Amino acid sequence: MDGGAVTLDPQIRDSLSLPLVCAPMSTVTGPELVAAACASGVMGVLPRHNASSLEEFTAWLKAIRRTNTTAAAADPGQKVGPLAVNFARRTESSVLRQELEVCAEFGVRVIVNSMGDPREVVNIVHDWGGLVYHDVTTVAHAEKAVERGVDGLTCIVSGGGGHSGTVSPLVFIPAVRRMFEGTILLAGGISTGEGIRAAEILGADLAYLGTRFIATDEARVDQAYHRQLVESRASDVLYTAAVSAIPANWLRRSLEAVGLNPDALPVPAGRGDYSHLPTGIRPWRDIWSAGQGVELIDEIVGVTELVGRLQQQYHDACRIDPFAGAHVEAGAHTRSEEAARAGTGARS
Ligand SMILES: Cc1cc2nc3c(=O)[nH]c(=O)nc-3n(C[C@H](O)[C@H](O)[C@H](O)COP(=O)(O)O)c2cc1C
Repeated sequence: MDGGAVTLDPQIRDSLSLPLVCAPMSTVTGPELVAAACASGVMGVLPRHNASSLEEFTAWLKAIRRTNTTAAAADPGQKVGPLAVNFARRTESSVLRQELEVCAEFGVRVIVNSMGDPREVVNIVHDWGGLVYHDVTTVAHAEKAVERGVDGLTCIVSGGGGHSGTVSPLVFIPAVRRMFEGTILLAGGISTGEGIRAAEILGADLAYLGTRFIATDEARVDQAYHRQLVESRASDVLYTAAVSAIPANWLRRSLEAVGLNPDALPVPAGRGDYSHLPTGIRPWRDIWSAGQGVELIDEIVGVTELVGRLQQQYHDACRIDPFAGAHVEAGAHTRSEEAARAGTGARS
């Protein structure tokens, strides 16, 4: 790919204080988290399905817009990140169209699609000038989504929270970058500013962080969830399809807390059927998901504080010197090139 290609929409880039997205999370993300992320100069993604009705969803969009307008007015120098919406559940076309229209009305620029085929969403959103980012877990999925005309690919790599992938970011991101000139988001396992910088070095435009944002005051979670995030190590995260019939990462302690043995889970009944779980127990609400990034989470802080820390770490990471040997090698390379050129000159 041409190194000079613009892969991130310039308007989006200019509204960010860091190449960072606060990822959508079932039950966890509400308007407070999204508004706080946007007000810190981060893209915030509101999951449509977390609101129980279109009325509630509209009220959330209104509240976020109000907070963002106030933040922009209070400090004109402060970047206010774009508001995005996540669609993760299939709905009838007429309902989808109506809900996307509400998004357009509230100035949503980006729709993050995590449902199967993105074609319908792409057609509707492109009509009003919006952008569609689509979740993928393999390079083959990414190729299909590109054919469908998506503007961005959220590449969910190994170790991520929620329905994680299994491909290493070291392979996934460069492989996608080779064939796609749109926006690439790296999702999975990033908890630090160094991780955000590493995502860029691999070829991503934006880092997509979920688990790290659960550990904030603004996340809609139980104190016990927060405690488990702080106390868990990467090895306390279990990747299994036995909870929701789709492979996902779950906190082992949350499985134990509802009476399940993480090492001998029942066979799942099927998608959307939770009869294999203890009575009344629901994934996401009662069994908690997190990615391997929990290893690097030590405390719960507010979103502003978290983004400030990530910015500091990111800027420090941007100043890391390359391996000293690389300079020597580069010098040696240059010298041999000069020698080659001199040799050529002698022959001509
Ligand atoms: C508790 C939880 C709920 C999630 N729910 C959703 C969701 O509703 N829609 C979606 O597209 N992704 C969902 N995800 C995935 C995130 O958007 C994101 O891809 C992931 O958290 C990135 O990995 P990380 O958690 O390691 O940062 C969820 C993740 C978590 C941890």
